[in-house]
Amino acid sequence: MTDLFRRLPASCWSAREGELALEGVKVSEIANAVGTPFYLYSAARLRENWRTLADALSPLGVAIHYAMKACANKAVVSILAAEGAGADIVSGGELTRALGGGIPASKVVFSGVGKTDAEIAQALRAGIHQINAESYEELWRIDRIAGELGVVAKVALRVNPDVDADTHAKITTGKKDNKFGVDAHRLGRLDNELKAMANLRLVGLAVHIGSQILTTKPFEEAYGRMRRLVLAMRERGHAIERLDLGGGFGIPYRNEQAPSAAEIAEVIRATVGDLGCALAVEPGRSIVADAGVLVTRVEFVKEGTERAFAVVDAGMNDLMRPAMYDSHHDIVPVRLPDADADFTTYDVVGPICESSDTFAKRRSLPRLAAGDLVVMATAGAYGATMAGTYNARALVPEVLVEAGRFAVVRRRVSVEEQLGWEASPDWLGSAAG
Ligand code: LLP
Repeated sequence: MTDLFRRLPASCWSAREGELALEGVKVSEIANAVGTPFYLYSAARLRENWRTLADALSPLGVAIHYAMKACANKAVVSILAAEGAGADIVSGGELTRALGGGIPASKVVFSGVGKTDAEIAQALRAGIHQINAESYEELWRIDRIAGELGVVAKVALRVNPDVDADTHAKITTGKKDNKFGVDAHRLGRLDNELKAMANLRLVGLAVHIGSQILTTKPFEEAYGRMRRLVLAMRERGHAIERLDLGGGFGIPYRNEQAPSAAEIAEVIRATVGDLGCALAVEPGRSIVADAGVLVTRVEFVKEGTERAFAVVDAGMNDLMRPAMYDSHHDIVPVRLPDADADFTTYDVVGPICESSDTFAKRRSLPRLAAGDLVVMATAGAYGATMAGTYNARALVPEVLVEAGRFAVVRRRVSVEEQLGWEASPDWLGSAAG
C-alpha cells in the first residue's frame, strides 16, 4: 500500500484525519472551496527542488534558467524568482510571464526555432541576457532587427549534436532529423558570415537534446561533443565565452531511477568544467513536476463487461500528457485506504469524447466510488501549461499551498467568460448574438 504514495514527496505530503494533506492543508478542504478539477502546487517542494539543483550546481558556477514552459504560473515563477532563478523562454508570451513573475531580463535566455520579428524585437528591447539562435536564417533575422533597434544582440548558437537522448520520440530534440539547432558540421559557415553581422555578437554555444532523460550517458555525449566544438571554435578565432547546456533532467513518474543533481553536476564538471565558459542549464520538469498534482473527483464507477472504468471530472484537456505521450501518472485516493482495503483494477478515464482521454489503463487502486477525490501525481510540469478548453470546458484552475495556507493562483475560466472572448461578425445578424 505504501507504494500508492511513492510519488507524493514526504517532505510536503502527510496524512491528516485519514486524508491526504499538502503542507498541512487537507486536499478535500481545498476541493470543497475551489471545486474540481484543479492543479495543486507546494511552495515548499518547489523551493526544495530548486535548492537541491542550485546547491549541486553553484559550486561550478552554473546559472539556472528555469524553463518556463514547464509551469508558467505567476505565483510559481515568483517563488523561483525569489530563489534567484533565471528563465528559459520560447515565446514573447513567456518573456512577459517571466518578467511578470519577477525574473529580471538580465537572467533570461530565449530559445526556439521560430521566433518572430516581433518576439525578437521584444526580447532585444527588454535587454535579455541571450538569444539562443537555432539557424543561420535566424542569425540573419536577429542581426537585422538588432540593427533596426540600434543594439548589439548577444547570441548563442544552438547546436544539434546528433545525440540520442534515449527518451520518448516526441520529446527528443538533439538528433539530426529533429528541427532544432544547427548541425555541428555546419558551424564552419560562421567564420565568414559572422563578419557580416554587425549587430550581433556570438557569445557562446547552446545545446538541449531532449526531455525526461533518465541516464547520464546522453548528457556525457552531448556535453563532450560541445566541449570539442568550443575548443574548435576558439581555435578558429571565435571567443566562446558561454555554454548553455539545456535542460532535460529526468524524474521518476513510477519507480524509475533518475540521475541525481550531484550526478548531473559531476557530468558537467568532467566534460565542460575546465573550459572557462560561463555555464548555464535550462531545467523545467525536474523543478516543478513533483511539486504539483492534479486533483480530480470520481463522477462514476462504470462497470463494463471487460473492465471497470473510473470516470473522473478531469479530462485530457486538463492534463494532456497521457494522451499525447502515453505518460504515466500515479493516481492516489485522497481518503487514505484502510490497511486491509480491497484493491481492484480500473481504467481511469475523463469525460472527453475520444478514447485518448484515458489517464490510466488497468490500474490497481483501492475500490473507488462516485464522489471520491483522487490526485494525479507528478503533474506540476507540462500540466497546466498544456491545458486547454476542448469540449467547451472551463480552463482548469491552479492553487498554491504554503505552510498551512492555500490560494487560488489562477481561477477557473468559465465557458461564459470564454464566450466573451469571441465575436460574431455583424453580417451574421442578431440571431447569432
Ligand atoms: N530548454 C529547451 C530548449 C527545451 O526545449 C526544453 C523542453 C527545456 C529546456 C526544458 O526541458 P525539461 O528540463 O523540462 O525536460 N511536454 C513534454 C515535454 C516537452 C519539453 C520541451 N522542451 C512533456 O510533457 O513531457
